[in-house]
Amino acid sequence: GNPAILPTPPMGFNNWARFMCNLNETLFTTTADAMKANGLLAAGYNRLNLDDCWMQYSRAANGSLQTNTTLFPHGLPWLADYVKSRGFKFGVYQDSGNLTCGGYPGSKGYEETDARDFEKMGFDYLKLDGCNVAEEQGRNLEQEYKYLYGKWHDVLTNSSSPMIFSQSAPAYFSGGPDFSNQTNNSDWYRVMDWVPKYGELARHSQDVAVYGLYNVSQYWESIMTNYGYEVLLARYQEPGFYNDPDFIISDWPWLTLDEKKSHFALWASFSAPLIISAYIPDLTSKELAYLTNKDIIAIDQDPLALQATLVSQDGTWDVLTKNLANGDRLLTVLNRGNHSAVTNVDLRRVGLRQGDTYQAKDLWTGNTKSIKNSINIKLPSHATAIYRVAEPSWIIPTGMIFNTASKRC
Ligand code: DGJ
Repeated sequence: GNPAILPTPPMGFNNWARFMCNLNETLFTTTADAMKANGLLAAGYNRLNLDDCWMQYSRAANGSLQTNTTLFPHGLPWLADYVKSRGFKFGVYQDSGNLTCGGYPGSKGYEETDARDFEKMGFDYLKLDGCNVAEEQGRNLEQEYKYLYGKWHDVLTNSSSPMIFSQSAPAYFSGGPDFSNQTNNSDWYRVMDWVPKYGELARHSQDVAVYGLYNVSQYWESIMTNYGYEVLLARYQEPGFYNDPDFIISDWPWLTLDEKKSHFALWASFSAPLIISAYIPDLTSKELAYLTNKDIIAIDQDPLALQATLVSQDGTWDVLTKNLANGDRLLTVLNRGNHSAVTNVDLRRVGLRQGDTYQAKDLWTGNTKSIKNSINIKLPSHATAIYRVAEPSWIIPTGMIFNTASKRC
């Protein structure tokens, strides 16, 4: 991961979770216009990313991918100009294997060609998927991914304007979240030796809406599953490399508003990508209000780019924390239970001292209150509290300020 290419996690839109292969030019122009009009662009969501199914089923005679011109009648360079003239950056999707998941031509053997074409078409962000990759030439599956992603890493690094490289692959081969064995044989340990070096982003878990496809009552479980993987990977994140727990799904009717707000607050606590997959023109004012919450976006975009760590999991309560660049501390508390409940969080749990008075800003309401020793939190089912906690300030009494400019001791 290169912090010069991506100093803080990306924010924007992607069609996949909401529209899958039902994408076209109008979806993207409409989305760009709506994001400009409704404040999402101003809040920082400045990327529009195409996902699978934008291509034709075969390459051109010269080897280049061909855009599906039924879906994109003006072509992608035209669309790139359209979105850029409105203040957005443009991202593209390709697969590392023989075919994309949707069955379109993958990049295996065409890495240079595709990279050159993507650059010419005006993209600065590549999401590289991992469908249709097979073991080859004595390489096992992980080694094959490492080989293919390594090729792309080289091609992108050597290009005149390096692109953001968003890697889907770890999700395709890394095992369960087993951290019991941190030796060289342990899955994550080995995988995370190369993945953060190759790209700026890495997926580890399934598609965020995947369970919901089979059973709409399971969208929340799907979010929690990805959250469960993410909390295990905090140590690997750094400016320029972000773990990617997948999209923000903001307009799913099967999620409660509290669940959607939790999803957002947790992803922001992780400094995860905030890529919305929703029909933007129809977002409600309540959905837009949480998505554009400046204080929570500032947690996501904090220059340290730390991923909050899970400090305790008691019963139905998860407590997470991280340091923020200005010395403040994040306190995030999730009620995983199915009922409204109350908890008291001892401030020592998040590294704060007993006896001192801290100022805690509730990032949902904007209200600040003084807290000492512990904080009492009441939350509905699946809701999340998120506080920015400031150190007590030292008041220096008047007359005791040393004038170091005029007096030298
Ligand atoms: C699997 C990825 O995880 C999804 O985000 C999406 O890119 C689809 N493939 C596209 O086929």
